[in-house]
Amino acid sequence: MAEKAFKYVIIGGGVAAGYAAREFANQGVNPGELAIISKEAVAPYERPALSKAYLFPEGTARLPGFHVCVGSGGERLLPEWYAEKGISLILNTEVVKVDLASKTLISAAGETFKYQILIIATGSTVVRLSDFGVQGADAKNIFYLREIDDADKLVEVIKAKKNGKALVVGGGYIGLELSAALKINSIDVSMVYPEPWCMPRLFTSELAGFYEGYYANKGIKIIKGTVATGFGTNENGEVTDVKLKDGRVMEADIVVVGVGGRPVTKLFKGQVEEEKGGIKTDGFFKTSVPDVYAVGDVATFPMKLYNEMRRVEHVDHARKSAEQAVKAIFSSEQGNSIDEYDYLPYFYSRAFDLSWQFYGDNVGETVFFGDGSPTSPTHKFGSYWIKDGKVVGAFLEGGTPEENKAIAKVARVQPPAHSLDQLATEGLTFACKI
Ligand code: FDA
Ligand code: NAD
Repeated sequence: MAEKAFKYVIIGGGVAAGYAAREFANQGVNPGELAIISKEAVAPYERPALSKAYLFPEGTARLPGFHVCVGSGGERLLPEWYAEKGISLILNTEVVKVDLASKTLISAAGETFKYQILIIATGSTVVRLSDFGVQGADAKNIFYLREIDDADKLVEVIKAKKNGKALVVGGGYIGLELSAALKINSIDVSMVYPEPWCMPRLFTSELAGFYEGYYANKGIKIIKGTVATGFGTNENGEVTDVKLKDGRVMEADIVVVGVGGRPVTKLFKGQVEEEKGGIKTDGFFKTSVPDVYAVGDVATFPMKLYNEMRRVEHVDHARKSAEQAVKAIFSSEQGNSIDEYDYLPYFYSRAFDLSWQFYGDNVGETVFFGDGSPTSPTHKFGSYWIKDGKVVGAFLEGGTPEENKAIAKVARVQPPAHSLDQLATEGLTFACKI
């Protein structure tokens, strides 16, 4: 089969690939120089839409509506945009073999691609219940959500099982966003997760208390402190019930699983240095191999603000790391340099009429502020994280754009916290003064 050669190749066609493509165009890439190789069938899109408006019964998001870069208020890059720029969008193509030494990639169909500079943007894949040997985990109507094909299957089952029962396994991002989306579609929803409260990797017990109360008021049943250990099926192999470790059995027509993601690094094992489960990079997203960069979910990079190597599985970093890598590539080609990546962590979520943002680091002591009653009509509240006498992280539910900017500034500036009681009393006013 013919070999194709490009100056620059991006493996992966997700968020980071799309934002990288826009930056390549900004930097004046020549037609024919750049290829994006993606196993997905569509041009890069804003993945966060899949667990939100893609599943709504009204105001539904569909492509081409949410191609990158609309999620950050930018231009929408339709497939035609890539063609106009002379960027090869090689879709439905999974890279199955990589040889970084000879700069060669091989696809599942046996095509060979050569590159001079490679950007790894393979993102994450879902952790599966079958990975922990849960009995019956391959039954029909057990769903995961990562790519648009997965979201299409969910849309189909939501239609097919109108007024049915769903069990959502996992109390993280997918668990909370999918439970809300299913409930909005009039499905009877229960959630099950092992921890004492939802989203434990970010939420304090007070923050989680609000969301659990709010979900319960919407009619979502929450079962904590246990896990799914097996699934019952009917004669068609479709799931009918879920067995829990605590002995309970829950009826279910649909099971949605969100028990975490895992960076897609397998193709590169043994060829590039790894750290903390990701591909190790510097502040320009260069890996240990010359001419190879890694961005988005797969990169473990120096988080300058905290003087620590970290990996981040969120969209804002996918966008910004991709732009940083492309700027670094062009500046080094021109013999110039750019500043090292200096990232302020930013995570957000939306479900029902709720919307929160978090900036910074969730370490140290915490202070809750505002009205955290699940029945309050305003539901505006938040939390600060205080370490070594400084405010290092801030969370806000229901903030205005100005208020969200204020908490972002707090996390970046890290002002001193003289008294935790005073912080709790001042609440959002503290952030707005910085
Ligand atoms: P991403 O996963 O976007 O792209 C990876 C691409 O590589 C995919 O196209 C994949 O098919 C392709 N690929 C992998 N291996 C390949 C191979 N061997 N050959 C070819 N192609 C290959 N974050 C946030 O901050 N707020 C939010 O609201 C959400 N919401 C959200 C919803 C859902 C459903 C998911 C799954 C994730 C989110 N996220 C999020 C997380 C965010 O979407 C995620 O961090 C970014 O998409 C990461 O961007 P990447 O480009 O690194 O990977
Ligand atoms: P997650 O890490 O947010 O949550 C996983 C949850 O599953 C945790 O509560 C965990 O304790 C629980 N869990 C683990 N094992 C379990 C088991 N055996 N049974 C029941 N629960 C179990 O991961 P996720 O929600 O699956 O999200 C996957 C990826 O998608 C992540 O990278 C995430 O950042 C991303 N995502 C982000 C957003 C957002 O930022 N708004 C939205 C959706 C997805």
